[in-house]
Amino acid sequence: MDKSTVVLVVGSEALAQEVEAVSAAVKSRTIQVQRSPDLRRAGEAARTRRPDAVIVELGRDLRELHAFAAELESGADVAPVVVGAWSRETFLGEDPSSAYLIEATRARVRDFVRRPVSSTELAEVLERHLGARVASRAQGRVIAFVSNKGGVGKSTLAVSTACALAKTHGDRVVLIDASLQLGLCASMLDLEPTTTLVDAVMQQDRLDETLLRELTLQHACGLRVLAAPKDAMDAARIDDASLARVLSVARRAFDYVVVDTFPLLDSIAVAILDFADDACVVVTPTVPHVLGALPLLDVLERLGVGRGRQRIVLNHSHPRVAGTLTPEDVATRLQRRIDAVFPFDKGLLVAQNTGEPYALAVGRLFGFGRALAGFVDELARPRGAVTSDVAP
Ligand SMILES: Nc1ncnc2c1ncn2[C@@H]1O[C@H](COP(=O)(O)OP(=O)(O)O)[C@@H](O)[C@H]1O
Ligand SMILES: [Mg+2]
Repeated sequence: MDKSTVVLVVGSEALAQEVEAVSAAVKSRTIQVQRSPDLRRAGEAARTRRPDAVIVELGRDLRELHAFAAELESGADVAPVVVGAWSRETFLGEDPSSAYLIEATRARVRDFVRRPVSSTELAEVLERHLGARVASRAQGRVIAFVSNKGGVGKSTLAVSTACALAKTHGDRVVLIDASLQLGLCASMLDLEPTTTLVDAVMQQDRLDETLLRELTLQHACGLRVLAAPKDAMDAARIDDASLARVLSVARRAFDYVVVDTFPLLDSIAVAILDFADDACVVVTPTVPHVLGALPLLDVLERLGVGRGRQRIVLNHSHPRVAGTLTPEDVATRLQRRIDAVFPFDKGLLVAQNTGEPYALAVGRLFGFGRALAGFVDELARPRGAVTSDVAP
């Protein structure tokens, strides 16, 4: 299970970059940096991302900070540690007065770091306040497959990734089929849903790790599956808040939570993206689709899913024809690094009809199997220090 320390920076991009830069030099722990531009949006971010520490850029007015800290403490089982970052510029070239520091402490600021933040100071502050606590509060990694177009391979890659992870991690992996309008994951795995995501949503008030596990279907490879609702009427019972509840329990109950989605950027998709450690944007190598993916990347950025959480996944869902873009073409058009390239493989089409997951049949040396193995190895690596904005 991932044991990186999540640090939410509330304030300017410059402060987030500073913290990110020094985080890389902190040897004692892996730090994942996220940012929220102001306290108002940081409250929401703290609820979904559950940071271990919050570094707040201190201004001269502490009123908002009082309310924010109270909100943090009321919402979490273990409230994150609040650290104030101050710079002399804010205090007219002086150090903050002791009256100010006392007032900040009353607003539940537990420690202070002076800007520019140094790696030694950051490491010390985190050790002092988090110590052994982080290791015991580890959370699973949420991997969501998204696109603004259907038929590009989201479900294929979600099922394949989940199966490949289950090969090593068995029933510590869950696949949640949140493609609410047309969920096919269970059938791709030849499973007959007796319970679905709707049951988890209906039980949300008493949903805990044990109950969630009970509501999943189990595949022979060990993988647990929370199937999609059986029809649109059923799907209508799910909203963003209830799905968020399911995801937050899932993240505690499993090491890996793979989520398949429907190509629509509604509040459900936004709730999923809020949780995603890896928002895998699936693109196919055709000009219209690559052009179509550009605005999606832009929207993700504005939703607070920064580049540190985005993975660009190029999937050859069709055989190569004249004019098929190369990975380099796609990278140039998107102005982004491609994180994984999946080749076209007829075996996937056959597997669809047999309900035998292709990921369990292929080796890891060639073609699709090789791409999948590389992709999954990357996902299993601890998250490094990445900056991602958690609110626009
Ligand atoms: N790499 C691939 N090689 C061959 N066929 C693929 C590949 N990726 C997807 N497909 C096929 O493309 C079709 C659409 O894939 P699907 O996963 O259902 O897309 P989405 O979930 O994005 O709508 C399916 O028939 C699937 O088998
Ligand atoms: Mg699909």
